[in-house]
Amino acid sequence: MDYQESDFNLTNYLNDKKELINSELDKIFKDFASSSHIVTAMKYSLMAGGKRIRPILCLAATEAVGGNLESTLPASCALEMIHTYSLIHDDLPAMDDDELRRGKQTCHVAFDEATAILAGDALLTLAFQILSSPVNKKDSQALVLLNVIHVISIAAGYKGMIDGQMRDIISEGALLSLDDLENMHALKTGALIQASIRCGAVLGNGSQEQIKLLGIYAKNLGLAFQVTDDILNVVGNPAVMGKAVGTDINRKKSTYPLIMGLNESKEFAKNIINNALKAIELFDNKAEPLRAVARYILKRKK
Ligand code: IPE
Ligand code: IPE
Ligand code: MG
Ligand code: MG
Repeated sequence: MDYQESDFNLTNYLNDKKELINSELDKIFKDFASSSHIVTAMKYSLMAGGKRIRPILCLAATEAVGGNLESTLPASCALEMIHTYSLIHDDLPAMDDDELRRGKQTCHVAFDEATAILAGDALLTLAFQILSSPVNKKDSQALVLLNVIHVISIAAGYKGMIDGQMRDIISEGALLSLDDLENMHALKTGALIQASIRCGAVLGNGSQEQIKLLGIYAKNLGLAFQVTDDILNVVGNPAVMGKAVGTDINRKKSTYPLIMGLNESKEFAKNIINNALKAIELFDNKAEPLRAVARYILKRKK
């Protein structure tokens, strides 16, 4: 699709893509024809109304390189499953101990801790089941999907998101240096966002040059996303965000507002979003959704 910057409507775009992802997720669960306790808990958190930013970025990256959304849809659903699993576990008493997520009780509150741990485990595993499902694989696509699985497993794993989460927990009560804070954010949130964009580009058959430039876009955008999460934890409205605010200070987390100051954090987010936009300035109008999402990150209220 070709978009004109002047008449590109991000709200419609985000709604359309959210609907596409949600109906694909519904379809996946319908195919299971199961209403077991674990499936009920998985669906409870997955369908609780997240922004779907990672799958949307994945689809938008496919569009930016001129690819076909249909072949990216299963991977984008898998990314949302991994993200939702990470939130379920992030909210557990042993981690951030939060009771509200996506405007609803967190999984361990609505069910119990054991169910929340297992629902997270099951969503993570289901993501790789979907990614490797034979119905998604034409022979010519098998190697591309193998690459996608490799990229996602690294990003979600001990060298990516899990390392970031580990650093976040270990450093509670300590004041991180700016470099350590940036590394932690790049891992806990940036890694999966980067993987989402890379996989979208790879599945859309992007060129090496396009993938490289989108990588720079993604690195900056992923960091900016967590910086704005830190900012919203200070100044956000819990009713709009569907989760509590003030919790980072209470748990003595190192955050950008704490280490750098609130206004400086906003300025920093603006600068790195500009870096993201600059990286894709030579892309044509098909990258308009990626540009609009980058600008939206700075203005987001949830
Ligand atoms: C929240 O992610 C946790 C972070 C990694 C910052 P989102 O802000 O994308 O949460 P949902 O998916 O919309 O609930
Ligand atoms: C969540 O980070 C990151 C992951 C789940 C990987 P936070 O703990 O900062 O996010 P919120 O504020 O609970 O959404
Ligand atoms: Mg956390
Ligand atoms: Mg948290």
